[in-house]
Amino acid sequence: MKKTIETERLYLCEFALEDAQLLIDLNSDREVTRYTGDGPVKDLDAAKKILSDVIFPQYKNNLGRWAVHLRSTGEFIGWCGLKHIAELNEIDLGYRFFQKHWGQGYATEAAKAVMEYGATILNLETIVGRAAVGNLNSIKVLEKAGLTYKEHDVEHGDEIVKYVWGKNNFDK
Ligand SMILES: CC(C)(COP(=O)(O)OP(=O)(O)OC[C@H]1O[C@@H](n2cnc3c(N)ncnc32)[C@H](O)[C@@H]1OP(=O)(O)O)[C@@H](O)C(=O)NCCC(=O)NCCS
Repeated sequence: MKKTIETERLYLCEFALEDAQLLIDLNSDREVTRYTGDGPVKDLDAAKKILSDVIFPQYKNNLGRWAVHLRSTGEFIGWCGLKHIAELNEIDLGYRFFQKHWGQGYATEAAKAVMEYGATILNLETIVGRAAVGNLNSIKVLEKAGLTYKEHDVEHGDEIVKYVWGKNNFDK
């Protein structure tokens, strides 16, 4: 397990193939996938394919959706991280946590640490975040992580808000 980031209460590390069941468990809650554009992961093969095709390739560039664990117990609580969206040439901040771990500041704590990692370790110029217009909890996390509102847009037929962080803004 390659640890990437540690915070006061959390550690973030790369997913491994053995974590496939965690993706199934996380996506099995309809509230968790209400705004995410995907849904339940069918079975272990489907979860392994997501890991191999979507998640692992990002790690080559030190980017990625990282597994988030509680430092106190080691429990997996969700994921957070940076993904390069090739079609848009954008680095995107994303996160997703089990419902029982909402409302405790974990998403914000992880997102802030990921933003700092992107800015200072990866030296990224710009990071974007997007959320469905109704996903108020996610929008709050984007704001608390230091991104600012840019525009409303429609992606894959869904109305979203787009947030952005730029190095020049950070330095001010
Ligand atoms: C989006 C998502 C990660 C937000 O989770 P969240 O729990 O609301 O966000 P945080 O972990 O930052 O918690 C914030 C809340 O914890 C509270 N909190 C409690 N203890 C806290 C602490 N020690 N530190 C900071 N905040 C704390 C805050 O006051 C805040 O509550 P409020 O919104 O009522 O003011 C979560 O809703 C989720 O996983 N959704 C499903 C997936 C998804 O939609 N992902 C985003 C796609 S764009």
